Amino acid sequence: MHLPHLSSNDRVFFRIDGNVPLENGKILNDFRLRALIPTLSFLKESGAAIMIATHIGRPVGFDPALSTKFLRPWFDNHGFSSFVLHENLRFDPREQQGSEELAQSYAQDFNWYLTDAWGVLHRHDTSVTLLPRLFPKNRRSIGLLIDHELEHLWPLRTGPQPPFVTMVGGGKPETKLSYLTDLVKTGHIQTIVPLPANIFSLLAALGKSVGLSLVTDELIEQARKLLAAAQAHSVELIFPKDFVIATGSWDGPRSIISANEPFPANAIGISVGPETLTQLTRIIAGAGTVFYNGLMGNIHDTVLNEPLFDALSSTNAYTVLGGGDAVSMAEKLGKLEKIGFCSTGGGSTLAFISGTELPGLVALGITH
Ligand code: 3PG
Repeated sequence: MHLPHLSSNDRVFFRIDGNVPLENGKILNDFRLRALIPTLSFLKESGAAIMIATHIGRPVGFDPALSTKFLRPWFDNHGFSSFVLHENLRFDPREQQGSEELAQSYAQDFNWYLTDAWGVLHRHDTSVTLLPRLFPKNRRSIGLLIDHELEHLWPLRTGPQPPFVTMVGGGKPETKLSYLTDLVKTGHIQTIVPLPANIFSLLAALGKSVGLSLVTDELIEQARKLLAAAQAHSVELIFPKDFVIATGSWDGPRSIISANEPFPANAIGISVGPETLTQLTRIIAGAGTVFYNGLMGNIHDTVLNEPLFDALSSTNAYTVLGGGDAVSMAEKLGKLEKIGFCSTGGGSTLAFISGTELPGLVALGITH
């Protein structure tokens, strides 16, 4: 990979995915930032003027809890205090609306566009898809992180060692269900394990009750497409045998129910249960390649997630984790060393291995 020749006269707009989990202004896991260090070091060495730009979360207008000022100490502590850090790009609603005017206003101050924002390349945000088009071909480029992601994820996109098992849970089912349908159509996949919250849309599409678990009419429609595609392409979908549920609210008392018993109307599905985890452990052990994205429960639920990470760290399969939360959990559980590859992208990585052309790469003229 050839990085640009930059000099101290150059001014670089550096788009990153610095969407890290924040709690009261503290970074809970800096995996996505650490992954940028090779490119950041190169930029520092070049002497060019650098502005780092990222989104954090999905703010509606200005939201002080999602300010990039909370990232500033990280850059200072890692020796990058000379870089300017732009405020959260999504504080401007035009960032997610696709605005030529906004793109032009960013472009006028820079002569280079560089991106390592792998995690957001599947979105059409202004700084991801419109801004790079305003720079000549020889003045826009990917950085070392994206290059690294492409190299390691390429086998999953083109010909993973079978059986290829993909397990996808966590939030954003509206993004993930449709990529899973694309993945089914590639012909590279043998088994899909939809985990909470995705699994509840599939169950609802089959007419099962799922209590207060996250489901909408639109998600059910997407789930129907996934069910139909899986049947047409003979891809196995694994349905849980049991669930961990919370009664009343996400923080309510937890219990385990069998998938055969009626789902309580006032409960939310948090995770799959122990019987399912035993089954998944067997599936992971017999796989050739495993991709896992999303967590059960939340980033603090180590007990719920540990059995799956035990299985991932003891299989001979090539294992790939997608997204900051899964990687952070592997790190917390001391399993990171045993994972084949940790990707900084969640939805974007799923999109890439599903054969989708990522809009952020297309904008740079990179298609596969
Ligand atoms: C992510 O965390 O998946 C990326 O930063 C993209 O965020 P988004 O789903 O809010 O677009």
